[in-house]
Amino acid sequence: MAGKGRSARPEKTAAQLAAAASHLLDWYDRAGRQLPWRRHWPELAPPYLVFLSELMLQQTSVTAVIPYFQAFVRRWPTIEALADADQAEVLEAWAGLGYYARARNMHKAARLIVARHEGRFPEQPEQLCALPGIGPYTAGAIAAIAFDQPAPVIDGNIERVLARFYHLDTPLPALKKQLVTPYSRLLPDQRRSDFPQALMDLGALICTPARPDCAVCPLARDCSARQLADPSILPVKPAKKAKPTRQGRALVLLDGQGRAALIRRAGKGLLGGLPGFPSDGWDRSPPEPLDRILEGLEARILPAKVRHTFTHFHASMTLCLAEAGGADLPAGWFWAVPEETGLPSLMKKIWQASQTGQISD
Ligand code: ADE
Repeated sequence: MAGKGRSARPEKTAAQLAAAASHLLDWYDRAGRQLPWRRHWPELAPPYLVFLSELMLQQTSVTAVIPYFQAFVRRWPTIEALADADQAEVLEAWAGLGYYARARNMHKAARLIVARHEGRFPEQPEQLCALPGIGPYTAGAIAAIAFDQPAPVIDGNIERVLARFYHLDTPLPALKKQLVTPYSRLLPDQRRSDFPQALMDLGALICTPARPDCAVCPLARDCSARQLADPSILPVKPAKKAKPTRQGRALVLLDGQGRAALIRRAGKGLLGGLPGFPSDGWDRSPPEPLDRILEGLEARILPAKVRHTFTHFHASMTLCLAEAGGADLPAGWFWAVPEETGLPSLMKKIWQASQTGQISD
């Protein structure tokens, strides 16, 4: 019965919930993931490490984040060091992780914390929410993990675990709001920093989307989805929207010495502030400027197109390859060695395809 969610299901007792939380934390002590931003209870993770990791983990997997997290901490070990960095350096160190507004916001937030809070993170979710890039979820995660606050932390893994444990069949995304009270009822008085991370690990390792391993689950005894033939039907997902494809062009202009002409992309838009090949179309920019430049060049068109998927669309890029004849570059363009420049993934794919003629996804 998908739809509004059932209300007639018997509530779990306080004793059941306390036992479930205790089994979960015991399991976390035995089998939780060792991640570089984590600490062992009763030690709490330094707020700066939690801040970095939580911003990186928004829409990105733990495996993809780990090397970036380690590189950031090596290069900028404190919030003051990050605040002192140039935005361009931060964006280039972020290159490949995607969703670059996160990096711009992280850098702005670091500067605000240093300027307004003497480098100390605020502890309450409401204060954290006032910082750029920190919405209710991330504020809750920082407050809980770094400061042991009882703030709800409900990410995709936790949504799935709780929807199954309580058998809640309201479809996503509406389900999320309904999980605040069930989360808080299960939250123990102690180890409020470990609790959300234990739920995340349970979702990542055992209560997985397609094949939950209920036989070894520490919540199995009181999990309401265990009575279902197939617990993986929960949570109920919304229908997926098809992504449109946008056509674009990119110019790979070489100087014959291993360098290519790059631009720094404007503002806050798509890949804003990042270096890239001059391009148009895919980002809704008009064709005239590139048409004018191509008129003066003998460009070769690569037969295969480079594809890259963004959140709301696929980009399908035609590559124009040319050698510069010694003429000056247009204003704002510069020569750089692409391998030594922190290019975002779409631009890296364009560079690789231009060099090898091979298209990779
Ligand atoms: N995803 C978001 N925050 C996380 C954390 N602290 N540990 C693991 N996965 C996460």
